[in-house]
Amino acid sequence: MDRILVTGGAGFIGLNFVHHLVEHTEATVTVLDKLTYAASPEALAELSSDRVELVVGDVADASLVGRLVADHDTVVHFAAESHNDNSLADPSPFVHTNLVGTFTLLEAVRRSGARLHHVSTDEVYGDLELDDPQRFTEQTPYNPSSPYSSTKAGSDLLVRAWVRSFGIHATISNCSNNYGPWQHVEKFIPRQVTNVIDGGRPKLYGAGLNVRDWIHTEDHSSAVLAILERGRSGETYLIGADGERSNLDVVRQILRHVGRPEDDFDHVTDRAGHDLRYAIDSSKIRAELGWEPSYDDFEAGLAATIDWYVEHEAWWRPHKAATEAAYAAKGQ
Ligand code: NAD
Ligand code: TYD
Repeated sequence: MDRILVTGGAGFIGLNFVHHLVEHTEATVTVLDKLTYAASPEALAELSSDRVELVVGDVADASLVGRLVADHDTVVHFAAESHNDNSLADPSPFVHTNLVGTFTLLEAVRRSGARLHHVSTDEVYGDLELDDPQRFTEQTPYNPSSPYSSTKAGSDLLVRAWVRSFGIHATISNCSNNYGPWQHVEKFIPRQVTNVIDGGRPKLYGAGLNVRDWIHTEDHSSAVLAILERGRSGETYLIGADGERSNLDVVRQILRHVGRPEDDFDHVTDRAGHDLRYAIDSSKIRAELGWEPSYDDFEAGLAATIDWYVEHEAWWRPHKAATEAAYAAKGQ
């Protein structure tokens, strides 16, 4: 693990992972990123150019990807279109990046023999009832609901098939909802936090009873690194931090943190096909790899994230008005 290629390393989770790699390993890192609307290359600029190089390009560009993969011993694949609401408005880039991009990478890995870690989501399993005592495990059948989650599910199945049919050296992780610094203002927590900073009201889809299982992005990074270092080839690991909260609870906590009344939010049009609840049983990665999350207090992690957005307004401000205009056009 001396030379690591990180696809999507200028996006929210990828860039936090690149920072984690620089801090916790000796590896040199190449980031391959198309720099879509979701990328923040400025977050990589503060890292030493001796350790991190950014290559701007498409993960579905076979000749570029072939050259890059041949020059690295390890590949970590974060690049994706990642937002459910965007996938409902236009699924096409999701099929291109999540499916064709993953296929392109797999073919390059098959030729070079590099080790691959594929980063995926718990949304491939569909959703759970609010009162279901079960949580998702590595054995839960795939049942995705949206264009986003179905293209991620398809990408996971491609990886599994390339392991079985071609013997590539690959692992997969399916993680729950991430929060933390550098997440785009289109996503739930940054959208509500920046609405509140602007003196506006949080926007809850439907009744707000949907549950997400929150994990700090730093804990996602440490889990992926544990899989790279100690994971068994061909295995899938679920990553979660026991952070189940309803959207309503999260909004109330944000409002409390800034001293506003807990009911100072709007209910807006619900998302089509909106998954009710996600919940991860992360026993396998904890028992097998000895991984544990370090942000075990969601309230403290959320408070620190709110403060981060207050301090980094210059970064998110240019994206806020257009993001809100697109939501407003859909009644959200
Ligand atoms: P993001 O949208 O913030 O970042 C995605 C990055 O990929 C961007 O930098 C973008 O420019 C890049 N990209 C998009 N299309 C590309 C292409 N064709 N070629 C090269 N680069 C391209 O996403 P994120 O939230 O950081 O998610 C990263 C990964 O983690 C995704 O695979 C996602 O499915 C997975 N994941 C996300 C969450 C979450 O809560 N956000 C949870 C579990 C898993
Ligand atoms: P999101 O951040 O889009 O992640 P995902 O769809 O991958 O879970 O949304 C998290 C939850 O918040 C989801 O239940 C949808 C809901 N939501 C709102 O209630 N209001 C919003 O403005 C947004 C963007 C999401």
